[in-house]
Amino acid sequence: MTGRPASPLEAIVDSAGIVVCCGSGGVGKTSTAAALALRGAEQGRRTCVLTIDPARRLAQALGLDLLSNEPRPVSAKGLAARGPGGLDAMMLDMRRTFDDVIERYARDDEQAERILANRFYQRLSSTLAGTQEYMAMEKLYELHEGGRYDLLVVDTPPTRSALDFLDAPEHLNELLDARALRLLIAPAQRVGRGYLKGLNFATTTMTRLVRRLTGSELLAEVGEFFAAFEGMYDGFKERARRVYDLLEHPDTAFVVVATPDQAALREATYFAGRLAQDGMPLGALVVNRIHHAAPIPKVPAAALQRLGRAGADGRLLADLLEQHQALELLAACERERVAELARTVPGVDVVEVPLLADDVHDIPGLRRLGNHLFDAANGTGARTRRTAGQR
Ligand SMILES: Nc1ncnc2c1ncn2[C@@H]1O[C@H](COP(=O)(O)OP(=O)(O)OP(=O)(O)O)[C@@H](O)[C@H]1O
Ligand SMILES: [Mg+2]
Repeated sequence: MTGRPASPLEAIVDSAGIVVCCGSGGVGKTSTAAALALRGAEQGRRTCVLTIDPARRLAQALGLDLLSNEPRPVSAKGLAARGPGGLDAMMLDMRRTFDDVIERYARDDEQAERILANRFYQRLSSTLAGTQEYMAMEKLYELHEGGRYDLLVVDTPPTRSALDFLDAPEHLNELLDARALRLLIAPAQRVGRGYLKGLNFATTTMTRLVRRLTGSELLAEVGEFFAAFEGMYDGFKERARRVYDLLEHPDTAFVVVATPDQAALREATYFAGRLAQDGMPLGALVVNRIHHAAPIPKVPAAALQRLGRAGADGRLLADLLEQHQALELLAACERERVAELARTVPGVDVVEVPLLADDVHDIPGLRRLGNHLFDAANGTGARTRRTAGQR
């Protein structure tokens, strides 16, 4: 021990068993997940990052350009792990994961083959909203059960809402519940109009899907699918329950990622509230891509106008100063929003990461991101507030 206070995320990658990075679309979940995993590996932990649709260049840097639904070692230059640590990465292939789950948990080969060959299953497994989230959870469960890793870092899909990730398993379970589904293919007279109207999300989503699959031939496949699926539903439900147990475990940490714009911060606040409500451990909130403006003396408006009239060089300088003022304004707005967020979620570490000059698409990029994520000064606000509150 060096005596240096660890940053909140450092403490998480040092001790958590599972880290789940979530947040709304495009905020930096995949980059954060990869940077956390890299650090975990470098701290000597056997680490695997489960990514979802990483940008192409990051995928290449992690050695994920080869199609595989299994973890592969990341062999990057300069990746020096302490002790037994190492970094594996994988990219979720939801269709392959679904097929693997069917093969693994079917009663026998015949049942698996019937399901896999079913055209309705093929559509369901590759297009249904929520399947990706569900399969990420199935994969997480499989990797956790395998026991090969000390730390599993899970990226989550680019859902419109961060909450979709938590809700997806339940929705998919409802969908796969043959009892509810059978209603759809039941003769019309047995399903009164009023009843159909009252059906929940599961059935309405399924209705839409079934409608998209035109032709009575496919409808027959729907019936065949449910017949073949018989007996598997309980297994799905049971595994979803175990994944929930894993997610609720104190060894798990959720890292909610947001950008400093209002929509993403609102989403992050909802998500933090929802985690608290579900008893799930929120490790830290990362606010990514924050703008900073270098401090320069204030230039009065009149001086700017004079500069603007003073030839081409003067105009250029006036433009630059105006741009800088706009950046200062943006930075101040973001600072206020982040402070407001910290007040809204007292006791939660808020980690700030600036907008970097480059995309995060390789190992040095992940390290640069890591330098901010693991900056010991970051998140101290919450600790100070917590300590003050505890006295
Ligand atoms: N701090 C940063 N500074 C500059 N660029 C960043 C930063 N963090 C992430 N990026 C870039 O922003 C883009 C989005 O990041 P990323 O793919 O990690 O987001 P995501 O939340 O996983 O997106 P999606 O919801 O689409 O999966 C990427 O091009 C990434 O390289
Ligand atoms: Mg992503």
